[in-house]
Amino acid sequence: MLILLNTMEIARTVVELRSLLDKRRAAEQTIGFVPTMGALHQGHVSLMEQAVRENSCAVVSIFVNPTQFNDPNDLKKYPRTPEKDLALVERAGVSVVFMPEVKEMYPTPDSRQFDFGMLDKVMEGVHRPGHFNGVAQVVSRLFDMVMPNRAYFGQKDFQQLAIIRQMVKMLCYPIEIIGCTIVREADGLAMSSRNMLLEPGRRQSAPLIAKTLAEARNKATQLSVKQLIDWVVSSINSDANLEVEYFEVVNAETLAPIEGWNDAPEKAGCIAVWAGSVRLIDNIMF
Ligand code: PAF
Repeated sequence: MLILLNTMEIARTVVELRSLLDKRRAAEQTIGFVPTMGALHQGHVSLMEQAVRENSCAVVSIFVNPTQFNDPNDLKKYPRTPEKDLALVERAGVSVVFMPEVKEMYPTPDSRQFDFGMLDKVMEGVHRPGHFNGVAQVVSRLFDMVMPNRAYFGQKDFQQLAIIRQMVKMLCYPIEIIGCTIVREADGLAMSSRNMLLEPGRRQSAPLIAKTLAEARNKATQLSVKQLIDWVVSSINSDANLEVEYFEVVNAETLAPIEGWNDAPEKAGCIAVWAGSVRLIDNIMF
């Protein structure tokens, strides 16, 4: 019996990464890329498994990108679990992991400013100024280094996915962007690296976010957009462990907030909620 063992390779520098991937490309392998900030969970595992299934070489990056944190305290407390991450990545069948230091990713400061128009003027863009510019800086650098055929992003970060698609258009990257379904805990909470930071009481309350969004979808036929927004906010805020930062119903393509249900063909309800000092996001399609 022939047993094929996946030998995962780890690159810590751009030179190492390029030399590993040049060999793969020379052997006509297709490259599927999953960028992450580590603290990996089953949501990441499903992205990695899809990349493994759809490509001959799956690459994962693990890098906590400082330029996308508008709050230095958030950057400091962002969970870091490198050993557990490497075990998960290897088990998923990934071929190459890229784990650079900050000075490797940014030998000189990145001063590029991206203009995403409306896409970063709403929701996360308002509450986390500069966040998406930092995401675009790091993802474009990673795309230049990895040069993947496909790249995989979770739909939990709905606005990020729209921004990445726009960035790919703006910079003419020949990369297929694949949005992957939200993976949830058994109680409905959308998986996130930040979930591990939740205090036990807040963790118990957090599934109310997904439960309320699911109910909102049923109520959308009976309520106006404004009434639905008010209902979602007051339903979640009725739990003292949670506080809604925003809930918006937007055109799923342009991200422009809508006032009437017929204002857009595809609509998304996007929410950010504080559970103590941890900020959770989720969304639902209408
Ligand atoms: O979604 C994330 O984890 C990050 O924003 C990303 C895309 C890896 C860029 O740092």
